[in-house]
Amino acid sequence: MPTRRMILTTAGAAAVVTGAGVLGAAWAPGGATARAPWRVAGESFGDARLDALAYAILAPNPHNMQPWRFQLAGEDRIDITCDLDRRLPETDPPDRQIIIGFGAMLELLAMAAAEKGYAVEIDYFPDGEAQPRLDRRRIAVATFRADARVPKDPLFQETLARRTSRALFDADRPVSTDTVDAICAAANRGSSADGSVDAASRARLIDLARRGWIVEYETDATRGESIELMRIGNRAVADKPDGISLNGTAMGLLKMAGLITPEKLDTPGATAYEQGLSTYMALIDSAQGFVWLTSETNTRRDQMNAGRNWVRLNLAAEQAGVAVQPLSQVLQEFPEMASLYTETQEELGVTAPGVVQMLGRVGYAKSSPPPSPRWPLSSRLIDAVA
Ligand SMILES: Cc1cc2nc3c(=O)[nH]c(=O)nc-3n(C[C@H](O)[C@H](O)[C@H](O)COP(=O)(O)O)c2cc1C
Repeated sequence: MPTRRMILTTAGAAAVVTGAGVLGAAWAPGGATARAPWRVAGESFGDARLDALAYAILAPNPHNMQPWRFQLAGEDRIDITCDLDRRLPETDPPDRQIIIGFGAMLELLAMAAAEKGYAVEIDYFPDGEAQPRLDRRRIAVATFRADARVPKDPLFQETLARRTSRALFDADRPVSTDTVDAICAAANRGSSADGSVDAASRARLIDLARRGWIVEYETDATRGESIELMRIGNRAVADKPDGISLNGTAMGLLKMAGLITPEKLDTPGATAYEQGLSTYMALIDSAQGFVWLTSETNTRRDQMNAGRNWVRLNLAAEQAGVAVQPLSQVLQEFPEMASLYTETQEELGVTAPGVVQMLGRVGYAKSSPPPSPRWPLSSRLIDAVA
């Protein structure tokens, strides 16, 4: 059984640890270091579980918190727990979105394992479903079994290309109903997926999303939570490759000029504050259609399935050349959002105990963003147990 130390000293894993990768070097600029997990994902780390985890950590997850902790157990098992400090208590009080991120991660884990000839059996919440919030109990146990006949999923080919897009979508290039249907069809893991490019429904959802964004932004606690997670400039992103990254040369210059600071982002009237508000509005307005995931109940397992489906939908969109961005504000469960939350469920025809688990805009973007930062896999591993 590999210990963490052993894992860290294998050649491939050394690259994961330093974040440098085979191509890069330890002195790679901040952005490159923070993105190294995308470059090294295809390497071999001496254990099928690590090989699959190297892809799994690239999953979409709320605010890129990467709340997972992995413990290799015995020869074939991974015990998965949540780093409770990496939750989003203001925007996600019941940890629903956090679980969606875990679901996405587990879907990629199973896909990546299948590529190497392993079937993965996933036992969700083996110690009981944590309610109303997550606790230290295991989120899931994943057991690997060699199986040369396990089917490979063609969507896996998109894993390294998959992105959450924060680009303006092309107003001259509508998305067809057939394309939306094809993307939604990929989400076949239990919760259901739907979408619309109909002009009237699009206008109503844009209006809802705009109002949701204003509420999240103008509520001190939720805005504050996001500001605290902003990594402004390449150095900040390299130091903490998670949260909301505002990097690149232009951002570095604005930071140096003192125009973008956490204080300015938190001050109504300041340029940084007002631009934060209007930039996201413009993204919402450019939606060419919407997709959403619903479930008939809202158990932790439903949330997991929604996560598995979200990443499948995101991968299928990538395959179709369509860009996707979740717009989660109106699905958030903090008191100030309550009436918009209800309005959204009604708009999408969902009645309790069913819920809308995910809502996102779709469209064509002129370019694809670079991969988002990730912590190296080694930093998410805790010592193996017998
Ligand atoms: C449950 C959930 C909710 C999300 N909500 C939003 C959102 O409201 N706005 C947004 O821009 N991205 C949202 N995202 C996308 C994440 O921010 C994104 O997955 C993360 O930053 C990692 O980036 P990547 O998907 O490009 O790898 C959400 C993702 C998940 C899984």
